[in-house]
Amino acid sequence: MSITKLLGIEYPILQGAMAQIALAELAAAVSNAGGLGIIASGGFSAERLREEIHKCRSLTDRPFGVNLMLMAPNRDELAQLVVDEGVKVVTTGAGSPKNYIQMWQAAGIIVIPVVPSVQIARKMAALGVDAIVAEGTEAGGHVGETTTMALIPQVADAVTIPVIAAGGIADGRGMAAAFALGAQGVQVGTRFLATVECPAHERFKQAVVAAQDGDTLVTGRSLGVPVRSIKNKMTLEYMKLERENADKDELELLAMGSLRKAVLEGDTENGSVMAGQIAGLVREITTVREVITSMFAEAKYAGREVSRLTGEAQQQTV
Ligand SMILES: Cc1cc2nc3c(=O)[nH]c(=O)nc-3n(C[C@H](O)[C@H](O)[C@H](O)COP(=O)(O)O)c2cc1C
Repeated sequence: MSITKLLGIEYPILQGAMAQIALAELAAAVSNAGGLGIIASGGFSAERLREEIHKCRSLTDRPFGVNLMLMAPNRDELAQLVVDEGVKVVTTGAGSPKNYIQMWQAAGIIVIPVVPSVQIARKMAALGVDAIVAEGTEAGGHVGETTTMALIPQVADAVTIPVIAAGGIADGRGMAAAFALGAQGVQVGTRFLATVECPAHERFKQAVVAAQDGDTLVTGRSLGVPVRSIKNKMTLEYMKLERENADKDELELLAMGSLRKAVLEGDTENGSVMAGQIAGLVREITTVREVITSMFAEAKYAGREVSRLTGEAQQQTV
């Protein structure tokens, strides 16, 4: 079954969960524009998540999803909440959804884990999940080590369920490339940061627009929690401490509350401006609808270009 049919959406475009940013407004805007909006639950109490779900439902009558981070201490409560609230789609990260899959699927929830490797994709498929988001290291936020270009075809070969590509996709060329690699849909994070509907502080959005291709870096490898964000005073200091083998407490102290600082206060020097390598391609703030419709139109054009170039090559060889 196609991703659009499975999820009940118009375009095969998912808005990636983004902690403290992908709240009801952004998720509803994406769903209203024909994609799948996803509410991030990172750091939320059950009550807070319930409020966001209700708010999202008041803003759209289309399907939307919820992302659960499975290292959250209140994971059992949140896992039950999505059932009670009749959420249609759950994406998961930071741990295995194993204990919840049966309960969710029995409630009609479509389960889509986000994975960074072929090995984990295989494991998830064996558990009977409905689809997989395979996310390359180009992505913003928590990342694995393999690039989207290398990861997607290998995951597509390894599993029979639909694969959704994430990491480094911000326009129709990226989307067409993902389809060519074997994905049936895309999950987009960074591009949606620079939208009118994104609730992040204006300075956060401008930092994404101003970023060039080499302006992101990955911190936290020494603690086993690699995170990609835009280079700034905080991340450079963090990297320095990592090089000096600083202890865990010192690093955690520096990073504490850093996403909030950037997202809510607009402190783009001392906060964590999580964004992917593709930020260099994001040049303006537009509406969510413009992102989705232009991405789809460009993908069609890019597909025709692939046919033209491969057609030409074929003519030259005969
Ligand atoms: C600011 C930010 C916060 C993120 N937070 C989460 C999160 O809470 N849960 C999650 O599964 N993924 C998270 N991600 C990853 C996105 O959902 C998405 O997979 C990723 O951004 C796709 O790559 P791209 O940034 O190159 O578009 C985050 C990404 C960003 C940029």
